[in-house]
Amino acid sequence: MRTFTLGRSQEEAISLFPDRSIREVQLGDQKICVARDGESFFAFERLCPHRLANLKEGQLNSFQEVICPLHHYRFELNSGRVASGDCRDLKVYKAELDESGLKISI
Ligand code: FES
Repeated sequence: MRTFTLGRSQEEAISLFPDRSIREVQLGDQKICVARDGESFFAFERLCPHRLANLKEGQLNSFQEVICPLHHYRFELNSGRVASGDCRDLKVYKAELDESGLKISI
């Protein structure tokens, strides 16, 4: 497992991710998605486990779930559990915001 830090401070990390946005980021040789909901950050695999739609085009709902843009399956961002749909769970990664930035372990 490797830990990457986005931004050089808490403020800079927050400024990289507008509230309720989903962004694709490159960490080492992997591209993943990072989403922000207020003070909460979530990191998860980029491609939907159902038919590989890019989840950066998805939407966040008010239950901290991501909704896939293709068939609208929903995944809980804390656990990755598929909340609506018929496929495996979404792979999620630890994302922690502290004074030195947003730390993501993949
Ligand atoms: S590709 Fe994501 S729900 Fe089908």
